[in-house]
Amino acid sequence: MTQEFKKINKVEGTLVLPGDKSISHRSVMFASMAKGTSRIYNLSNGEDVKSSQKCFVQLGALIKQGKDFIEVNGKGFKGFTKPGYPLDAGNSGTTTRLISGILIAQDFESTIIGDESLSKRPMKRIIDPITKMGGKIKSAEKFTLPLVISPVESINPIAYELPMASAQVKSAVLLAGLYCEGTTSVIEKIPTRDHTEKMLGLRTKITASGKVSYASRENYPEPKEYIVPSDISTAAFFIVLTLLSEKSELRIKDVSLNETRTGILTVLKNMGADITIENARTIAGEALGDILVKSSKLKNAKIPLELIPNIIDEIPVLSIAGIIADGEFILRNASELRGKETDRIAAICHNMKILGLDVEEYEDGFALSGAIKNQNPVFESFGDHRIAMAFGILSLILKNGGKINNFECAAISNPDILLQLSQICK
Ligand code: S3P
Repeated sequence: MTQEFKKINKVEGTLVLPGDKSISHRSVMFASMAKGTSRIYNLSNGEDVKSSQKCFVQLGALIKQGKDFIEVNGKGFKGFTKPGYPLDAGNSGTTTRLISGILIAQDFESTIIGDESLSKRPMKRIIDPITKMGGKIKSAEKFTLPLVISPVESINPIAYELPMASAQVKSAVLLAGLYCEGTTSVIEKIPTRDHTEKMLGLRTKITASGKVSYASRENYPEPKEYIVPSDISTAAFFIVLTLLSEKSELRIKDVSLNETRTGILTVLKNMGADITIENARTIAGEALGDILVKSSKLKNAKIPLELIPNIIDEIPVLSIAGIIADGEFILRNASELRGKETDRIAAICHNMKILGLDVEEYEDGFALSGAIKNQNPVFESFGDHRIAMAFGILSLILKNGGKINNFECAAISNPDILLQLSQICK
């Protein structure tokens, strides 16, 4: 579906957004692993989290929809049952990589498949540590899906230094560690999102070689009530739209403010954004609060290297702020973007060239400058939800609007984006 966006006058009002995708995936997984009944409030309604739910139902968990929660009846330690057919992770890298760490410890064989995009994404990053733990995992050529995971006598704890900044790989190893006799540790030079550690109450330590997280059987999840704060990665699209629109003001309620996720606020503030936090608090170890954002004149600023993992999902929409801001927008040290739902460096550069900007593409980023020349752009989403939404936001501030091909992929993280925009755009 090609979605057309017309220029808006301003942004005004208050938004309540669905639950954070990363915390939602983990809530579904940990509730399914725990023996007994858990409740999850404000779960993400995106397709990705539905993929996680379907996989765990296939593994024997019971999931019931309540009024404003889901109820999960989990199976307990090694209580999952062999799925009758392959587990379909859809478009979701988080489902695939985290569930692999769990499946490696089960007493049955399982196969993970996914859609066209997921089937191209790199899996060697989890195959390597899982194999080191004694797990048996086979992939297609080029280390991609389908993954076939076979039972082994036992898996062993390891001390693993992450070769790339990836919360998904860290989590896969830590989840496998929950099934090992002894303690598994993961060392990361630049900390990535820490929801797995926080939600499982894992011990962590800052050392000379980086942050170390530890997992063992005693950290295996128990049933509980999860309250998922709203998704800051989803909020980022509305924050940038408000900043770039005239005479605008928006309040977004109860957004996750976990410090491993708020890099986007830091980077935008460094660019001169008027953003304030209200009502800051912590629920179950996760920080949240309301974000108040007002129209701002932005100026590009250097993005510190150590913030890249923290803003990795927000770079598509940050680059929209970057091309409107004064000065050149430069992104480096972000080669991880090439392995996302699409190659996001190539996708952003492609769409920026459609606008007539000066684009320099690097292996690990890009530099964007010049003036917008094309006043009737038609952008490509490349089937990637964040590319689709980022260029949708840009279209809302262009003189004659813009169009996005295959916009429907936005449903991967936010099926209600058009409704939310209609509530706040005047
Ligand atoms: C996620 C981690 C990040 C992020 C993804 C969700 C998670 O991926 O891009 O959207 O929930 O752990 P990597 O850890 O592979 O960078």
